[in-house]
Amino acid sequence: CLRSLFIFAVVASLVNLGFSGAPTKCFVTSVKNNSGVTPAGLCGAWDKESDGGLFTSPNYPEKYPPDQECIYIIEASPRQCIDLYFDEKYAIEPSWECKFDHIEVRDGPFSFSPIIGRYCGQESPTYVKSSGRYLWIKFVADGELEAIGFSARYNFTQGKICEFEMSGPEGIVESIMVMKEGKALQTEAVDCRWFIRAPPGSKIYLRFLDYEMQNSNECKRNFVAVYDGSSSVEHLKNKFCSTVANDVMLLTSLGVIRMWADETSRRSRFRILFTTFHEPPCEGDSFFCHSNMCINHTLVCNGIQNCVYPWDENGCKGKYKHFMCMLTSYYFCTFDTFDQDKDL
Ligand SMILES: *[C@@H]1O[C@H](CO)[C@@H](O)[C@H](O)[C@H]1NC(C)=O
Ligand SMILES: *[C@@H]1O[C@H](CO)[C@@H](O)[C@H](O)[C@H]1NC(C)=O
Ligand SMILES: *[C@@H]1O[C@H](CO)[C@@H](O)[C@H](O)[C@H]1NC(C)=O
Repeated sequence: CLRSLFIFAVVASLVNLGFSGAPTKCFVTSVKNNSGVTPAGLCGAWDKESDGGLFTSPNYPEKYPPDQECIYIIEASPRQCIDLYFDEKYAIEPSWECKFDHIEVRDGPFSFSPIIGRYCGQESPTYVKSSGRYLWIKFVADGELEAIGFSARYNFTQGKICEFEMSGPEGIVESIMVMKEGKALQTEAVDCRWFIRAPPGSKIYLRFLDYEMQNSNECKRNFVAVYDGSSSVEHLKNKFCSTVANDVMLLTSLGVIRMWADETSRRSRFRILFTTFHEPPCEGDSFFCHSNMCINHTLVCNGIQNCVYPWDENGCKGKYKHFMCMLTSYYFCTFDTFDQDKDL
């Protein structure tokens, strides 16, 4: 028998480089109401919408035509899940184990992904939830006994949120925090944000200590972006996805660092030292960096270069504290004090 097969992927991979408003706003593209499309028998006519969508069997709520096989793939943005609701107005030719006409829903992007259910009869399926970003849905109609079919509505729910808050005179922002704090598995795509909050009126200096993108120059797969003032797209200051990343001087007291990495880029990594500073004249006991920065005095001779040039670590003989952060991370740093003839 003749079958028409249409595959439509609803791709939400328009990875909008900016993100605005609510920090976890879903950027989704989705499917519109496709019932009543012509020519009859077309399994879907898909369009893009901003939030969720609806799809139906061909001709719904009229009887669906015979000999159909329609495949719908719904894709959410990384870390989102899909909720699917079937309309009560539903009828699919009943059969033992739904051998004839049916809808099949699978938890994933493929025809061999784990099955959630196979449905037919007069009662609409209950609500379905995906465990990941995809649902694979097939509607099959054989050569006889047509019914009105189905209408299904879906929307997206937010998966895990990956955000960090940082403050203090200095600190280290690094990609390994994502795994350490259980924000995502090592196999999951990530879109994480670090909010660095400096005291009002001060600014932030960012210095890269380590940076490597697994898929260099593929900005759609991986990048580190720096925002100055808020996390909205108009405050994007730098985006790094090539082989090098430069230090960044922010002009506001709110810095946002964003790391994007898809499933194939999870070995991309970075470590950034942030230092908050005021512009001269340096007040109180703050330290003058011999440039446009006054930093907290506690950063002097702490083994970390906070100034653009290492004035803060110059002439630290006898009081030099070695701040050891071996290859690993911030979390494994240890302090130990030792004498060192440090002549820069
Ligand atoms: C889908 O669109 C058709 C035609 O635009 C409309 O008549 C129908 O009511 C809509 N169905 C739903 C469930 O919104
Ligand atoms: C998703 O759709 C269902 C049914 O239309 C609705 O009850 C629910 O509130 C929606 N959820 C969101 C997050 O929009
Ligand atoms: C310098 O840092 C210390 C320790 O974090 C903090 O208590 C102090 O308030 C800071 N001083 C200024 C002027 O910000």
